[in-house]
Amino acid sequence: MLDTPASDAPNDLDSFWMPFTDNRYFKAHPRLLASASGMYYATPEGRQILDGTAGLWCVNAGHGRETITAAIREQAGKLDFAPTFQLGHPLAFQVAARVGALMPADLDRIFFANSGSEAVDTALKIALAYHRARGQGTRTRLIGRERGYHGTGFGGISVGGIVSNRRVFGPGLPGTDHLPHTHDLARNAFSRGQPEHGAHLADTLENLVALHGAETIAAVIVEPLAGSTGVLVPPQGYLERLRAICDRHGILLIFDEVITGFGRLGAATAAERFGVTPDIITLAKGITNAAVPMGAVACRRAIYDSVTGAPGAAAGIELFHGYTYSAHPLACAAALATLDLYRDEALFARARSLEAQWEAAVHSLADAPHVIDIRNLGLVAGIELTPRPDAPGARAQELFRALFDQGLLVRATADIIALSPPLIVTEEQIDTMVAMLRTALTKLA
Ligand SMILES: Cc1ncc(COP(=O)(O)O)c(C=O)c1O
Repeated sequence: MLDTPASDAPNDLDSFWMPFTDNRYFKAHPRLLASASGMYYATPEGRQILDGTAGLWCVNAGHGRETITAAIREQAGKLDFAPTFQLGHPLAFQVAARVGALMPADLDRIFFANSGSEAVDTALKIALAYHRARGQGTRTRLIGRERGYHGTGFGGISVGGIVSNRRVFGPGLPGTDHLPHTHDLARNAFSRGQPEHGAHLADTLENLVALHGAETIAAVIVEPLAGSTGVLVPPQGYLERLRAICDRHGILLIFDEVITGFGRLGAATAAERFGVTPDIITLAKGITNAAVPMGAVACRRAIYDSVTGAPGAAAGIELFHGYTYSAHPLACAAALATLDLYRDEALFARARSLEAQWEAAVHSLADAPHVIDIRNLGLVAGIELTPRPDAPGARAQELFRALFDQGLLVRATADIIALSPPLIVTEEQIDTMVAMLRTALTKLA
């Protein structure tokens, strides 16, 4: 083993315990990415891989954007780190104001974290703190949804709806409950945009209110469009109904927009795209174009005001929560440069303008072998395949590997392929992706 690798090849595959990875398989069959530019990754051997997933739903402005890199470089030389506990640095306030300006309504009070998982756990804690500050401390129950993904913190896995993320880790937070998911292949297969059926599923929140009592429920958290469990687009009218029920019972509505924030659905937020305003929005990923980790929680002013207290209230720390790296200067520099790019290149509007071609292109695969559903919104698509009876998930994994070898990066979850290219994707590249998918699907057993 070399102390210093002579090339981009790693010198020891054993040491890195890889996240959400079949470590044994990977280390026997490694797939490495060594560099990236624009719409492409390159492998250590120099093979180009078209990025159909914006990394992990995060590189919305494309790879290696020079203005972001320069901003990070410059900031590292100017102020490498500054605590934000009882101190501040100017960029933190600037980023908060810029992010706040992109949020709907008055969700312009911004708490910083370093990832989506931290943003989610922060949002859940803020919800609890809000009710307590208003004298409603019995509201401690948190409600998520089946097939929801809210990261890997104990809060996130407790409200999340993926049993494998939870099974090994004990009971999680007490007093959580879950709404049913909205995926309905029988009635909604091959929907273009929001599916027609399923708004009534929001009404199950009324059942949970009847079961537990509204006075015990703090918040409901959902991904407005669920990404990680296979691109579940909300049925028409569903989010509106959830909003109305939350309002009726004084329950906070949290949208987890870690994936949908910053242009993925052709608007700054899914809230804006769907015209439904939650009370709290969680953000991460695209906030810095993934160049430096950052997460954020956008809250309505009333939440901030309730937790921080009325002017003249007794002084002291109001929310016992935060991270050493909340609003890290390098993340802030990356965020400002990223938000400039989104604005200057009108990338959210670009995503919206590509949506019709994207939709037509992905739905052209409806007759390809194994395909049982295609769904889309914004620059996202899910392609669901018939599972092999003896090996659920294997077919999509094989497709993922075949496409990588062919030069296209997609994401596979269960038997679903998710596509979410950077918002700079061209019409030609969309056609290339779809052609590669057809070839690979045709060869797939
Ligand atoms: C909706 C949602 N919430 C939270 C997370 C967790 O984010 P992170 O991996 O940055 O902790 C993700 C990650 O994909 C996500 O999609």
